Amino acid sequence: MIVLGIETSCDETAAALVEDGRRILSNVIASQIELHRLTGGVVPEVAAREHVIKLPHVIKRALKGAQKNVSDIDAIAVTRGPGLLSSLLIGANSAIALAAALRLPLIPVNHIVGHMYANWLTKRPPPQFPIVVLTASGGHSELIFWKGHGEYRFLGSTLDDAAGEAFDKVARLLKLPYPGGPSIERAAIGGNPMKYPLPRAWVTGWDFSFSGLKTAVLRLVQKTGKKASTKQFQRDCAASFQEAVCEVLATKLVNAAVQFHAQEVHVAGGVSANARLRAWTKNLMDKAGLRTLRYSNDLKLCTDNAAMIASAGYFAYKGNPAKYKKTKIFECDPNLPIS
Ligand code: KG4
Ligand code: ZN
Repeated sequence: MIVLGIETSCDETAAALVEDGRRILSNVIASQIELHRLTGGVVPEVAAREHVIKLPHVIKRALKGAQKNVSDIDAIAVTRGPGLLSSLLIGANSAIALAAALRLPLIPVNHIVGHMYANWLTKRPPPQFPIVVLTASGGHSELIFWKGHGEYRFLGSTLDDAAGEAFDKVARLLKLPYPGGPSIERAAIGGNPMKYPLPRAWVTGWDFSFSGLKTAVLRLVQKTGKKASTKQFQRDCAASFQEAVCEVLATKLVNAAVQFHAQEVHVAGGVSANARLRAWTKNLMDKAGLRTLRYSNDLKLCTDNAAMIASAGYFAYKGNPAKYKKTKIFECDPNLPIS
């Protein structure tokens, strides 16, 4: 079964063709990063206009890249939320129109669930449930107990800034370029993670909080004054900040995996590209006797893409084909919960 995935929830215009939920035939992403670099973040109106311009070409390129015609598509999956409403609407309306014209099943997908399926897009044997997964991106930091396809138990999320958002904001404080995650990771390479003892917010339960850490970096930058613009300060501060975020994320993730007797531990979303987060997680898993850690080695699958949406759509369809038989119009939800 070939599913066309469409993703426009934030600042990537993406389309992909995926076969049977696991084999990527094409995965096209038109990034708006250069555009949003000018403003140091995403301006929703600008992002939506860019989706309108780019989406038709991106879909055509996805078909061409897979060497398929529209007649080869068996279903269309599209992000319904969470995300920026004006951006979501472009992908959703395009998908609704395409599915109606081609008389294909239309599968609305939760963006966070989409990220979770990025780890299914490999040639490795399929993941084994139950899984505890951390999805950490620019808009979200969620900890989820994943019992089976369509069976999620939400454990916790951030009470304020998302992990990726914290990376982006701290990068701005350190005058490092947007997006902040990769800039901080690069700067941290030459830095000392122990140099500045930044706070770890051990919020009770499975929730996270990063705003206090961000404020602590702001105070440190202010206190350092002129020296804050030196390369060495940037490196040490980036490394110390990265260490604080990764320690908390990895500790809660592995503790949840132990408590819920998970077979596997997964990390997904833009922040899962971070090598220090992966190392922290692996190290804690080794101590806890947990073996299987999955993340994607393909950076295109860590950040927003449509292959993950197609994969999530495929498994949702397989679980209940009748539900998706007729094209149904649905409403996008910028705050769509995982259910
Ligand atoms: O999943 P994603 O592409 O978009 C959202 O749904 O938000 O994630 C983008 C976020 C950005 O905040 C970016 O700074 C962060 O992921 N990110 C990283 C890294 N690469 C991207 N954070 C930490 N380390 C990285 N290497
Ligand atoms: Zn995302």
